[in-house]
Amino acid sequence: MQKMLVEGGHPLNGKVRVSGAKNSAVALLPAAILADSQVTIEGLPDISDVYTLGELLEEIGGRVVWDGQTVHIDPEHMISMPLPNGQVKKLRASYYFMGAMLGKFKQAVIGLPGGCYLGPRPIDQHIKGFEALGAEVTNEHGAIYIRAKELIGARIYLDVVSVGATINIMLAAVRAKGRTIIENAAKEPEIIDVATLLTNMGAKIKGVGTDVIRIDGVPSLHGCRHTIIPDRIEAGTYAITAAAVGNEVIIDNVIPQHLESLLAKLREMGVTVEESDEQLYIAARDPLKSVDIKTLVYPGFPTDLQQPFTSLLTKASSTGVITDTIYSARMKHVDELRRMNANIKVEGGSIIVSGPNKLAGARVKASDLRAGAALIIAGLMADGITEITGLEHIDRGYENITEKLNQLGANIWREEMSEREVVQFKNS
Ligand code: EPU
Repeated sequence: MQKMLVEGGHPLNGKVRVSGAKNSAVALLPAAILADSQVTIEGLPDISDVYTLGELLEEIGGRVVWDGQTVHIDPEHMISMPLPNGQVKKLRASYYFMGAMLGKFKQAVIGLPGGCYLGPRPIDQHIKGFEALGAEVTNEHGAIYIRAKELIGARIYLDVVSVGATINIMLAAVRAKGRTIIENAAKEPEIIDVATLLTNMGAKIKGVGTDVIRIDGVPSLHGCRHTIIPDRIEAGTYAITAAAVGNEVIIDNVIPQHLESLLAKLREMGVTVEESDEQLYIAARDPLKSVDIKTLVYPGFPTDLQQPFTSLLTKASSTGVITDTIYSARMKHVDELRRMNANIKVEGGSIIVSGPNKLAGARVKASDLRAGAALIIAGLMADGITEITGLEHIDRGYENITEKLNQLGANIWREEMSEREVVQFKNS
C-alpha cells in the first residue's frame, strides 16, 4: 500500500493534457454489451475504474482487447451471467451493467454497487425506470435481480434529476419495443456522449442535452467506433489547482463550455481565465476574493468540484460558503483540511471557509476520489510536506495525477507505507 507525499510551495507553470472523461468511460464500456458486433472506444482514461469494467465485460464472455487508450470490445459471446459479488462492488458505475444487460438479455443480476461514500446514494429512480419498461425488480441478499419477458417503451418521469438513472434507462430502452420518453432527464455532457455512442450503434434517440429524451426502440444494435469526450472534472480540478498555486497554466483537451459555472466563479475570485477552442489558460492572482458556491445539476456548479474548490477557498480573502445540494454529506475533506490549519467548519449543512489561511503539511486521508484531489491541492498550497493515504480512491479517477502535476513543476512522490502505517490506516 502506498502513500503520496506532496511538498508545498512550488508554483506551477506549463501545459497539462486532460484525459478522456471517467464518468463517460464507465457508461460507454457497459453500453458496448448492447451491440451485436465489435465496439471500439478511443481515448479512454488510464484509471482503475476503466480496467475493472473491462474485467467485468470479460467475466460475462466479452472479448476485450486493449491498444493503449483504445479498447475493442467484441460482445458476440457475451451471456447474461449473474454478477452478484466481486468486482461490481468496487465501483458505483457497475450499475450500468443493469441497464445494458437488461436491454440485451432481458435479465440481469448485479450486486449493489460500491464507489465513493457521499452519503446515501439510492438507485430507486433506475429501478422505477426498469419497472416502467416491464421488468420485475427484486433485491435478494444484496444483489438486484431484474427480469423481463419483454421490454416495452414507456413514459418515465424522474422524481430526482439523476445522471445514472437517465443513462441506465436509456441503455434499457434502446432495444425495447416502441417509444420511451424520459422526462426530467439529466443533461450532463457524459449523457450526450453515451447517446452519441448508442446512436452510432444504430439507436434512435432524440433530445439528449434537454430534459426530455425520446427513444424509439430498435431490434438490434451494431458495432461502431467512438471517441470519448474530455474529462470536464479532471480539467476543472487542474483549473482550480492552477488558480491555487499556478503562475500560468494551460489546460489542453478541454471543452470550455462544459466548465462555464466553474470558470465564472474563478473569474469572480479574480483569477485570469482565457478560453480557446480546446484550451484554458489560467493565471493565478493574489489576493483572491471569496465567493459562495452552491452545487447544482448541470450546467450548475458540479458537486464533483466542490471538494477541490474548498481547498482553493482557504486562500481567499474572507469567508466563503459552500452548499452541496446534490450530496449534502460530501464533506469528509473538511476534517482533513482542518488538520492542515484550515479555518473551516460545517454549519447548517454548509461548509464555511474563513480565509485567508496559511495551510501547513500534515498526515491526511483521502476518504473518496474528489476529497483526494482536494487534499493534493491543499498539499501544494501548504508549507512543508503533506502525506496522503487512501490513494486507491484517487487512482480510480485521475490518470497519472502525480506525473501530470510534476510536469507542471510540483514535487509529489509515492512511497510504500510501513506495516505500522498500514495498520494505523486500516484502523482510522
Ligand atoms: N438519486 C436518487 N435516486 C436515484 C438516483 C439518484 O435519489 O435513483 C439522488 C442521489 O442521491 C443524488 C442525486 O440524485 O442526491 C444525483 O445523483 P446521480 O444519480 O446524478 O449521481 P450518480 O449517477 O450516481 C454521477 C457521477 C458522480 C457525480 C454525480 C452527480 C458517475 C459514475 N458518477 O453519479 O461522480 O457526483 O453523477 O453529478 O457518473 C465522481 O466522479 O466523483 C462522482 C461521484
